[in-house]
Formats: sequence, C-alpha cells, structure tokens
Amino acid sequence: MTLASFDLSGRRALVTGASRGLGRAIATALAGAGADVAVTARSAESLEETVAAVAATGRRAIALRQDVRDAAGATAVVAEAGEALGGLDILVNNAGIEQVRASLDVDEALWDRIVDTNLKGAFFVAQAAARAMAKAGRGGAMVNLCSLTSYVGIPTAVPYGASKTGLLGMTRALSAEWAPLGIRVNAIAPGYFRTAMTEVFYENDDWQAAMLGKIPQRRFGEAGDIGGAVVFLASDAAAYVTGHCIPVDGGYLASI
Ligand SMILES: NC(=O)c1ccc[n+]([C@@H]2O[C@H](COP(=O)([O-])OP(=O)(O)OC[C@H]3O[C@@H](n4cnc5c(N)ncnc54)[C@H](OP(=O)(O)O)[C@@H]3O)[C@@H](O)[C@H]2O)c1
Repeated sequence: MTLASFDLSGRRALVTGASRGLGRAIATALAGAGADVAVTARSAESLEETVAAVAATGRRAIALRQDVRDAAGATAVVAEAGEALGGLDILVNNAGIEQVRASLDVDEALWDRIVDTNLKGAFFVAQAAARAMAKAGRGGAMVNLCSLTSYVGIPTAVPYGASKTGLLGMTRALSAEWAPLGIRVNAIAPGYFRTAMTEVFYENDDWQAAMLGKIPQRRFGEAGDIGGAVVFLASDAAAYVTGHCIPVDGGYLASI
C-alpha cells in the first residue's frame, strides 16, 4: 500500500478573497504544494502582492478582479481562471466579511451584505466551478471557509454566524450531490486569526486575554497555521474525505 499524495503538482486552483489575510496564506500554501493558482478579490492592487508571493514559490499565479456577490460574474471569473491555467481542479471559497452589531440594530443592508458575500457568493462560485469541473470530467476538490460560528453562537455576530452555519450546511449537501461528479466538498473552520477582518477585536487587550484563556494552545492562529488543512483537503490524500469541516483553532471547539 502506498500513501496517497499531498502533492498538488499539475493542479489548478482558484482562491477567492485572496488579496490579503487567510486567502493569501492559503494561495501561497497551495502553490507551495505545487499548484498553479488564480486569485480573486475586489481590489486589484493588493491581489498583486499575493501574485508575487505565489510566484516566489515558482508556481504560476494570475489575478482576477471579482465581487463574489455578483452571481453572474462567477461564471465569467471561473471561465477566465480555467482558460488562463488550462483547467480547474481546486476551489477555495475564502472571500468573506464580518461586522459585529447588536442584533436589535441589524438592518437589512447589513444582513444582505454579509450573507450575500459569505453564503450566496460561495454558492454561485462553487456552482460555476462544479459546472466547469463536470464538463472537464476530471472531478475536483472544494474547500469552504467556515468559522467557529458555524458551531457556536456568538452574540453580535448573527448575520455572520448565520452565513457560516449555512456554509457548513451547504458544504454537507453539495458533497452528497456532487460526489457522483467526482467533486469533493469540504470546509475548514479557522479559530482566531489576526487579520484585517478581525483587527478591531485585537485592539482590545482585555478581549485578547479573555480569548487566549479559552484557547487550549494559548496562542492565536498565525498565517502558517492555515494552509496545511487546505492542502490536505485539496489533495489525493483526502480522496475519501468529503462533506466535513476541519477546525483549525488551537483546540477551542474541543474544549468548550
Ligand atoms: N480571521 C479569522 O480569525 C477568521 C476566522 C474564521 C473564519 N474566517 C474566514 O476566513 C476568510 C478570510 O478572512 P480573513 O480574516 O482573511 O479576512 P480579510 O483579511 O478581511 O480578507 C478577506 C478577503 O475577502 C475579500 N473579499 C471581501 N468581500 C469580497 C467580495 N464581495 N468579493 C470578493 N472578495 C471579497 C477581500 O478582498 P477585497 O476587500 O479586496 O474584496 C479579502 O481578500 C473569511 O471567509 C472569514 O470569514 C476568518
């Protein structure tokens, strides 16, 4: 028996929301494992920094501007990525936003902005990618960025938590529906990572101390912590893994 490979050489990946933060770390990790990578976000300038980070690994990188809330645009960007890379084997649905607000004050615009980005956007990008993968007939692997809020209720994060809980449900349902197409659909649930999205929390020393007390490893996640689980789920090493979510959280969920 030989161990299935974690090597992604020859694979073509698309990572949404890869202009900074976890998306950039994931794109670089996939490239480090051998994949060529297309990266998308709304801001073209910061995407170029990700392209440079991927290129430094020796793999190909291309940047494509896209707002994931534009469902019609998903088909176009997936087609562009496939054309530029010669096909598409891996999708990482990473684009996401959060804005905490007391639920009594959440308005329709905030709800729509968060849920349309984190859930609707992820669905239509996945649909476009699955159509392309099915047409090519080689199957594929998808990884969705869930969250601790896919599992636990966090006050003032209700639109976000609803979107991420929905994303976990979507991961499970699509994994079952697309298994016959050879497409695996999994997720990871990052714990607490300091990024542009979460910076507002880290400016509060009391919050940091309280949160570290809840994380068994007693540290926050770092960029280098996130890629391993994604590379695994994208690779042949995870050939018999679909419909699941791996928490990457320093033990948080296991201990509450
Ligand atoms: N950081 C954490 O602790 C943590 C924990 C759990 C889950 N997550 C999840 O991990 C993912 C990445 O988060 P992060 O912390 O790395 O956040 P981040 O640094 O704010 O990065 C978010 C990325 O998404 C892109 N994006 C936002 N809205 C978009 C839209 N409408 N269309 C296309 N791209 C869009 C952003 O680029 P533009 O603004 O240029 O579009 C950026 O590249 C998110 O799904 C988040 O929910 C993060």
